[in-house]
Amino acid sequence: MNYKAHLGDSLEILKTLPSNSVDSLVTDPPAGIGLLGLDWDKDKGGRAEWIAWLASIMRECQRVLKPGGHGLVWALPRTSHWTATALEDAGFQVKDVITHVFGSGFPKSIAIDKALDRAKYTDTDLVFKVTGWIRNRRDELGLTNKQLDEAAEIKGGACHWTALPPHGQPNIPTKERWGKLETLLGPAPQWICELIKPSHELGENWRSREVVGQYTKDSGGIGGKAFSATNREMTEPTTEESKKWKGWGTALKPASEHWILIQKPVSEHNIAANIKKYSTGGINIDASRIPVQGKIPSTSNLDFRDGGFIWDTSERSRNSIYHQHPDGRFPSNFIITQSNAQDCPARTLNDQSESENEVAQYFKNFNPEVPFFYCKKPDKFEKGFDNSHPTVKPLRLMRYLCKMLTPIGGTVLDPFMGSGTTGVAALFERFQFVGIERDENYHRIAEKRLQGVKI
Ligand SMILES: C[S@@+](CC[C@H](N)C(=O)[O-])C[C@H]1O[C@@H](n2cnc3c(N)ncnc32)[C@H](O)[C@@H]1O
Repeated sequence: MNYKAHLGDSLEILKTLPSNSVDSLVTDPPAGIGLLGLDWDKDKGGRAEWIAWLASIMRECQRVLKPGGHGLVWALPRTSHWTATALEDAGFQVKDVITHVFGSGFPKSIAIDKALDRAKYTDTDLVFKVTGWIRNRRDELGLTNKQLDEAAEIKGGACHWTALPPHGQPNIPTKERWGKLETLLGPAPQWICELIKPSHELGENWRSREVVGQYTKDSGGIGGKAFSATNREMTEPTTEESKKWKGWGTALKPASEHWILIQKPVSEHNIAANIKKYSTGGINIDASRIPVQGKIPSTSNLDFRDGGFIWDTSERSRNSIYHQHPDGRFPSNFIITQSNAQDCPARTLNDQSESENEVAQYFKNFNPEVPFFYCKKPDKFEKGFDNSHPTVKPLRLMRYLCKMLTPIGGTVLDPFMGSGTTGVAALFERFQFVGIERDENYHRIAEKRLQGVKI
């Protein structure tokens, strides 16, 4: 066997695979954040449900993995504690977390001064009064939220229009939605009608903002599609309140992802016996070493004395060079993506203050010196031109991770195969591969990519 790419739900397919039959688990599961509204990334009803769902699949992966076998499981910092909990609940030991740092993430922060000026309603009690009226009407008429959603032709709107204080997230339907809801609920009292506004209408303060320029470019995008700005006006706050909050936001720029390093407990009385029986239990340190160009100065010229340290400038120290392993530095739990000048971890996308030359210079100095694994983001050529998957991982990264965990000629398992990057990486490293994907289109893309591997 070279590879087997199953089409179907992981939980069902894994149950058909024999116990102790694969050597490593390298996988990029959903994160439970509903990325781009995609169904497969939804939270399954909440934290507990999502963790239980992932744990059920990981329990099967644990059975299929050989004793002592390692896994690397991708997670987003925001929900990586969910992923780690599911892995522990499934019986894995969590050994480490590799942090993968990149500079191309786009901050999804809401500018608070704009939010204040844009808001149609800032009186929460009033909004809850409206949702209370809609909730009572719904119950009087024996209707459900699903029926309200269907009437308004939207998913998940009714839970906001009928939200209960104090924890619900209340919202007043727009004029367009209300036109449809009214046919079910009947006319609303005058005080509610006055609060129902068209979707394009923004808060009163929005109109008073001073226009100071125009945005000229679309920015960002996922899967090759640029986000297009609907409002290109650059504005400044004018009210006292929004001026006070200028420069405040709600989120940080994403610049790191996690790979959680896990292990199935060894079954033999020690690691040597386990390796002898199953070939699993070790990490391939030498195959994962980071080649370093040039000479590394020895740290021995730091002379520790009296609880502090001084820089030793003696002849002996200046000539001393760190004795490097011929294959490079010991692999660490830190990885950097370098795709272009803007991927520099020290910069933000909006930072116009440094010239491109300065950035290029930074990289010239930065790259050869820092002993971490680098890899660039995948381009269209690497992904395959018809690859429409929104979260394709870099091939070089996946080769590195497979190589780190899998014994020579062993089998890599990926129960969330997507467009098959783990599999392509495994085949390039001359491993066997077992992948599972439930989406037919992604599965077809993965098959095509896997068939294309010629080594
Ligand atoms: C984050 S993507 C993996 C992307 C992949 N690393 C690549 O480079 O193309 C996760 C994939 O898991 C799949 N998936 C989600 N739940 C699944 C399940 N229960 N069984 C099988 N596949 C599933 C989704 O369809 C999605 O393609």
